[in-house]
Amino acid sequence: MFNLSPSILAADFNQLGRQIAEVEQGGADWLHIDVMDGAFVPSISFGMPVIKSIRRNTALLFDVHLMIREPIRYVKEFAESGADLITIHVEACSDVSATIREIKALGKKVGISLNPETKTECLLPYLSEVDLVLVMSVHPGFGGQKFIPETLEKIKEIKAKLLEVNPKCHVEVDGGVCAENAIDILRAGADVLVAGTAVFSGNIERNVQRFYQIAGELIGR
Ligand code: DX5
Ligand code: ZN
Repeated sequence: MFNLSPSILAADFNQLGRQIAEVEQGGADWLHIDVMDGAFVPSISFGMPVIKSIRRNTALLFDVHLMIREPIRYVKEFAESGADLITIHVEACSDVSATIREIKALGKKVGISLNPETKTECLLPYLSEVDLVLVMSVHPGFGGQKFIPETLEKIKEIKAKLLEVNPKCHVEVDGGVCAENAIDILRAGADVLVAGTAVFSGNIERNVQRFYQIAGELIGR
């Protein structure tokens, strides 16, 4: 089963509610929400008040990507704001296992992410504990970057390891994903694609449909 997780970082915040409705009409089930702290990544995006506000108008699965240092400090607040799935960075936690446990204790799904320069080995101790692995295909911090092609090998490697220890775990890919490279990324083993620029530029509904059409031809929905 394939899911597209459109990243609202690329939305027009002046029309956020309407654009989320368009994403939903296009057939997406997930919504990717990028939280940046200006410390783990150079940029600052938005936080709990925005999540709480958009939660009132949509049933989409809130896929919250925390690009923040020591996210354990805030996971409870994100859970209460409406997150369904909370993804933390392996590089950002002094105690990864404790952070994973905390998210699970809040009754939320948990994801773990790694930056392009981080080796797959760093994830191995946690693979059986998580619901999702988020593979960064750009250096986190900004939307609109170019997909790093070496990521494809990394996706294959992670998917192979997951098949051994946690076959139900999702593999999500984030950064520079577009209709042109989606097939290669899905073939490498991803089942959830994040797309910001490729969804929110032009006709949002049609852009979402295009991704489902591509995936449908390959793996079915
Ligand atoms: C990057 C973010 C991404 C970003 C993707 O730090 O984690 O989710 O919004 O945007 P595009 O699809 O434009 O690369
Ligand atoms: Zn993201």
